[in-house]
This record gives sequence, C-alpha cells and structure tokens, in this order.
Amino acid sequence: MEFVAESRGGRRARTDCAVAGVHEGGELTAEAADLDRALGRRITRVLRQGDFAGRLGDTLLLPDLGPGPAARVLLAGLGSRKGWSRRSYRRALSAAAPAVLRCGARDALLLLSAGDVPEVDAYYRARYAAELFGQARYQIPALKSGRRPKPPRLDRLRVACAGRADLAAAQRGVLHAAAVVAGASLTRDLANLPANVCTPSHLAGVARALARAHRRIRARILGEPELKRLGMGAFLSVTSGSDEPARLIVLEYRGGKAGSAPVALVGKGVTFDSGGISLKDPPAMDEMKFDMTGAAAVLGTVKALAVLEARINVVGIVPACENMPSGSATKPGDIVTSMSGQTVEVLNTDAEGRLILCDALTYSRRFRPAAVIDIATLTGACVIALGQHHSAIMSNNDALAEQLLAAGRRSADSCWRLPVGEEYFEQLKSNFADFANVAGRDGGASTAASFLWRFVDGLTWAHLDIAGTAYQTGASKGSTGRPVALLVDYLLSRT
Ligand code: BES
Ligand code: MN
Ligand code: ZN
Repeated sequence: MEFVAESRGGRRARTDCAVAGVHEGGELTAEAADLDRALGRRITRVLRQGDFAGRLGDTLLLPDLGPGPAARVLLAGLGSRKGWSRRSYRRALSAAAPAVLRCGARDALLLLSAGDVPEVDAYYRARYAAELFGQARYQIPALKSGRRPKPPRLDRLRVACAGRADLAAAQRGVLHAAAVVAGASLTRDLANLPANVCTPSHLAGVARALARAHRRIRARILGEPELKRLGMGAFLSVTSGSDEPARLIVLEYRGGKAGSAPVALVGKGVTFDSGGISLKDPPAMDEMKFDMTGAAAVLGTVKALAVLEARINVVGIVPACENMPSGSATKPGDIVTSMSGQTVEVLNTDAEGRLILCDALTYSRRFRPAAVIDIATLTGACVIALGQHHSAIMSNNDALAEQLLAAGRRSADSCWRLPVGEEYFEQLKSNFADFANVAGRDGGASTAASFLWRFVDGLTWAHLDIAGTAYQTGASKGSTGRPVALLVDYLLSRT
C-alpha cells in the first residue's frame, strides 16, 4: 500500500472514500467541513437526521452520495471535542481502518488529521495514520486450505494535513510509517508462522534473503560447530534436546559512517519453547511459537532501516534454537559454561531465554557497540507486572533508558522501566556454580534481567522484555509487530 501526505483540502480532492471526522455534537473537522460544503451539505443532513452521534470509535459508511468529490464517505466518530487527545485520535484511526478496508475503495483520503491533536505534531499525526492503516491491512500468512481470502482493494492512503507548513513533516511521517509497516509485517509473518515452519534455519534463510535484497545488509550464519568453538556452552545447552540445528544469525546494516560504532540489537530466537525437561503446562503451550518474536523484531527493524536507507550502523545478533525435552536435553542441575567463562547451574530448563541471550550478549562485544539492546519474550512475570500495554525496560544506563522510554511514548509502542542489578542478582546464588539461571517467583522479570546484567559489564545496555506485548491471545491471537515501531523510532533519533 502506498501512503501519501497531501496539503490539499477536502473540497478539491477526488477519492473513492473520504474519511470525515465528526466530534460528538456533530462538529466536523475543518477539512471534513470543506468536503461537506462540496457535497452540498449532505453530511450535515445525515447528522441532523440523528444517524451518527460521533461517538469515539463509531463509523458509518455513506456509500452513495451522488456526484461530487468522493464516491463514498466514511464518518469516523472522534468523541467529545474536550476529550480530544492522542489516544482518541489513534482510537478513531483504528476504527476507521478496518471499515475503509471492508469497502471497495482503492484510494482513501483521511480528513481527520488536519486539526490539532494534543501533544502530536504533524509528523506523528501522519505517521500514526499510515502506520495504523498499514497494520490493519496486515493478513496472517494463510495456511488454511480452500479459497484464499482476497486482499483488501485499498492500495493508496492519502493523509490530508493542515496546510503547506505541515506538508514536509507529514511526508516524512508517512515515509517512516511505510518502513515501520514493512518491518513490522515481516516480524508478524515470522512470529505467526508455526514452529514446524519457522525453525532456526528458516530465520537464517530470511536473514540471508534480506542481505540479498538490500546492499547495505550483510548476513553471516554460524552453525553449531562454530558455536562450540566460540565456547557458547549456555546457548548450546538449550538446543541440546532438539533435532533442529541451532543458528547464530549476525545481520549487519551499514548505513552510517564507516568508523562509527554500531547499535547492537540482540533478539531471543527460541522458535519453540516447550520448557525442555522442566516441561510447561499444556494450556497455551502453542503460544510458545511466539518465543522468537525478539529475533523477528530484530530482522524487522533492520529491514525498516534498509528501506529508509537510514544513516546509522546496526548489528543484529540472533541466537535461534528450539527448547525441547529428549534424552539429550539439559537436565535440571546441569552446569554449563558460558562464552564469558562464568558457569551457570540450570535449575530450570524453562528459563532458557537468558541462557541463549547471555552468550549472544558476550558475542556482541566484538562489534564494540555504542549501545546493546536485547529484545526478548523473557518472563511470564513481566506479563503479570505490566500486562499487555507496556514492554518492560531494564537498563544499566539512565540516558539509554530515557531515550528508549521517550521513543516508546512517541511511537505509541511504550515501555515502562523496571529495576535491575545487584540486589536481584543475589537471588540467583548457587551452591555449585557461579550462579543459577532462576530465583524464586518474586520479581521474576527483574531477576531474569539481572542474570543478563552479569554479562554486560562495561557495555551500555538495555533489555526489553516483550512477553506481554509481542502477541495477542484469545480470539485475535497473533503477533502485534511490537516493538519494531519503538526500535525504529529510537534508531532514527540517533541519526
Ligand atoms: N518464553 C518464556 C516466557 C514467557 C511466558 C513468554 C509467557 C510469554 C508468555 C520463558 O522462556 C519462560 O519460560 N520463563 C519462565 C521463567 C521461570 C522458569 C523462571 C517463566 O516466566 O515462567
Ligand atoms: Mn521458557
Ligand atoms: Zn522462552
């Protein structure tokens, strides 16, 4: 889908479907009012008849308005004028997008982003609109037999901005949105695929394909013999029960100056987490195919940067494997030696994410990164603490944490800071090894992060626990594409 920002008002625009914002009480946005005049006040008549109250999230399609600039008009409720906010703006967009996609329009013109939205500038007004429509258009890779559902016809979204002054910012907004949508769609595709399709080798193949498609990307794939040579005993202990070979994927994006230190993105790529010998309970175990979303977000973010030709150096590092029980699986009590030399007593084989990440974090040092960010569906405790709204962020650097928090707020892909460090790390003590891979239930998200913290001494590091935000459960089960928007926003802010 193509996204365009336009400063031309609704009056002169011709479109298959104009989306006209209406506040409670019948107040139209300035551009929708323009359109109404061009349509001989037909929208006003519909409102006077009492057919549409403008409640936030309501929509009403007026399919045949006769001759005029718009073949259809979709009324989009904006709620009360007084409560008008970033949240209601995004909510109205989220409601309008599926309604536009359901009708037959190939081209749509948004007339609700022109006016002021509190705390949102022209760039983000346009970016949110394009991002939410792009995300709504996403379709899960179809593995259902029978007729494929037709893709929506909409192939062009035009976002009207207030005037000439806003145009350049809005154009940048839709450009960045298109890249975020491309990246997040890759992330969602990979995460939604079942674990028998999306294996570590499959992820490696996707990384190679990205490198072929974009000249600034280079991919290197390491197999198990190389991981052994590197001494990645922690990573290898997780894959030992599986018949699928593990991979370490290294994806370099070089868009910045030759000498400038890269940002390292380390993504947890457990393509299926059964728990291993510490087997998980059956209910919802299928959702552990999403346990590679951190990895998928790294690939998606690198793709978005390449689409934008962003002027930054980034290295993606993805340890990818399965966590399975078998005769060769790691057993509770086994002691493994990490690449850093520190030994770990594996008290629970279901705390596997930290074991693959610690070796990948150690590996990241060879790139002398300016900052290292790991992204992982790491703990159920994080979901208990924060629910589905915010990812957790833990960091050993306040400036980096603040930058990521700010990027999350701006991109509406937010995170919330939780503590990490010595006092939580102490809960991991072991009688037999340097430390254990689990502590008690208390503060589980922070003890997991503090395990990683032991491997990033001297690095500027942040950890994003996305266990609650990576995917939705229930009737709308599926990957959300988070936190690609957050990561792209952060990385662009560094350029
Ligand atoms: N992949 C899970 C974490 C997870 C749980 C992600 C629920 C998404 C939803 C992780 O590998 C895991 O199993 N963590 C354990 C750690 C525990 C054994 C200390 C957990 O959270 O239960
Ligand atoms: Mn686990
Ligand atoms: Zn896991």
